[in-house]
Amino acid sequence: MAEDVGKKIESLREKVRHHEYLYYVVDHPEIGDAEFDKLMQQLKNLEAAHPQLITADSPTQRVGGKPRAGFVKVPHSSPMLSLDNTYNEEELRAWERRVHELSGRTEVDYVCELKLDGMSLALIYEDGKLMRGITRGDGSVGEDVTLNVRTVRSVPLSIPREKLKKAGIPADFEVRGELLMPLAAFKKTNEERQSKGLSLFANPRNATAGTVRRLESKVTAERGLDYFPYMLLRDGRTHFDRHWKRLDALAAAGFKVNQNRKLVQNIDDAWAFIQEWEAKRDSLPYEIDGIVIKADRTALQDELGFTGKAPRWAIAYKYAARAGITRLEGIRVQVGRTGKLTPVAGLVPVPIGGTMVANATLHNMNEIDRLGVKIGDWVRVERGGDVIPKVVEVIKDDEDHPRGHKSFHMPEKCPVCGTKVVRTEGEVDYRCVNANCPAKLRETVLHFASRGVMNIDGMGDALVTQLTERGLVKNVADIYKLTKDDLLSLERMGDKSAQNILEEIEASKKLPLERVIYGLGIRMVGERTAQFLAEHFGSMEALESAGVEELQDVNEVGPRIAESIVEFFSIAANRKLVERLGEAGLTLTGQKKQRGTKLAGKTFVLTGTLAHFTRDEAKKMIEDAGGKVTGSVSKKTDYVVAGADAGSKLDKAKEFGVKVMDEREMEDIVGG
Ligand code: IVH
Repeated sequence: MAEDVGKKIESLREKVRHHEYLYYVVDHPEIGDAEFDKLMQQLKNLEAAHPQLITADSPTQRVGGKPRAGFVKVPHSSPMLSLDNTYNEEELRAWERRVHELSGRTEVDYVCELKLDGMSLALIYEDGKLMRGITRGDGSVGEDVTLNVRTVRSVPLSIPREKLKKAGIPADFEVRGELLMPLAAFKKTNEERQSKGLSLFANPRNATAGTVRRLESKVTAERGLDYFPYMLLRDGRTHFDRHWKRLDALAAAGFKVNQNRKLVQNIDDAWAFIQEWEAKRDSLPYEIDGIVIKADRTALQDELGFTGKAPRWAIAYKYAARAGITRLEGIRVQVGRTGKLTPVAGLVPVPIGGTMVANATLHNMNEIDRLGVKIGDWVRVERGGDVIPKVVEVIKDDEDHPRGHKSFHMPEKCPVCGTKVVRTEGEVDYRCVNANCPAKLRETVLHFASRGVMNIDGMGDALVTQLTERGLVKNVADIYKLTKDDLLSLERMGDKSAQNILEEIEASKKLPLERVIYGLGIRMVGERTAQFLAEHFGSMEALESAGVEELQDVNEVGPRIAESIVEFFSIAANRKLVERLGEAGLTLTGQKKQRGTKLAGKTFVLTGTLAHFTRDEAKKMIEDAGGKVTGSVSKKTDYVVAGADAGSKLDKAKEFGVKVMDEREMEDIVGG
């Protein structure tokens, strides 16, 4: 029996590893996300039921604990060197001549690779298992960041012996390569940081370094780092005679070796590769800052050796920095779809990396203060892959670059609709909170109509764009005035679809009050909060007239949410909108419900099979008494309610010393 489970677990792990490889390494998934999640869940369930069978290299174990006291310093097996740089064709050809001179050969093969812009990282494998990830540090001693590196999905945690053998790699080996943050992940990370009022990462390289040194590996896991190896060390007896073969071997072992590499016979072809990628670099999903040219033959590499800090057998060709210096002529303010105001620098146009740049983002007021930028200043502007150009620094006062004098202030009124803008205490961004502001309209309507809100099926992206652009919908209440003729006047709209949409709109009127509250798009009021508000106030009218104090009596509503709600209803246009929704026949009243306060602030986790209630019933009982039900056990959990066959959650509860009860006891404290 136990043996069968062990086999089943191992076979699931193999499947998960295989699909992770297809998805994260070769980018050719064979199954959908849902199917993958299902496999992973099966594995997790089995492991939860048989915790003694969990191994460190299981794909479920990417996110681990916390390093206790920061990161431990570890020496490298051999120094992690850097590369000498060249900046033009002449220097490149001079390097080639030197290779010829030193080696006495004129025919040399070169491997051309992208110079990835992240940070170098060494991975130590023993018996095919990832034992350590070490940063470059000062080249001789780096930091042990293993727990975080394990979260990088393109890094194999374990490679079967057979596979290594086939690839010609010994079981104990070291790879070195580049850890980086792809542009999409970088964008997402900075957006999240901005919304939390944190300082922004200047570029993906800094973001990578900041992320791999986080103490919580969970954060690292969420940031989507990627790893491309470019060196194999300690290949022992299987010593490869060419670098190119070594890269192929790494790929065969399951590593994500960068595809955009080329073996060439002379420096002319290397030069062509350099030019090709200079033109194409914007099409890559990550940043590169040049091309690395390496002599292919191991024997030649050994012959050429190293200077103090860099190999003589390799050279980096660096692309010109994509930055420029220009004068900032003015700052205007853009209103985003969520109402956020973004200051944008108007520049004297400057060529950067092949395009003329006339605008650059300044992100927010904090960033302007941090840079100390004034109108008229000379500034340094940088542009990454598909990243929007940004002002990164003010040039110091000198003869050619006199400082500007005019300070910038955020406007008091929204430049689009004229409503007074607000900045909630403790927040970075200024916002226009007028739900009818045209800048926000499309997004607001989409949210309102979406599933889980007013559920108007068929009112998606394309339709909402047309409706708002043609002025048929100027606010969400206008949805309820649409006629069949209005809809038929739109592109690709047949009689049948128009009829369906009108029916959907009609049906949405019956949805309960909490949906309407949620649909208004009040900042920080999500589905759950909307529900609590509806239950507490029982009508939109009561909610509208509530003050900050009273709002905070509502479950899970703190000062910031309360503030945001009061702000929303203080705007006449928003109150008018609610009135019109009422006139259109939407549900603006509901059942007041007194949630108990008995279990206020208490957190429950349900596990195992309960005999007398369904999970949903138990959850409702607890919530009605003011408690909260969450999915996983932590130190903050107050009670674990355990039914039959409770698994790992029960173990966790014991580990954390959380009180465990059966369903009878739960009934007692909920109802009694
Ligand atoms: S080989 C001993 N190959 O560039 C030579 N380095 O400026 C080791 N880099 O520290 C480096 N892409 O972090 C090599 N394809 C590539 C690279 C690469 C990026 C980085 C690496 C190194 C730095 C040197």
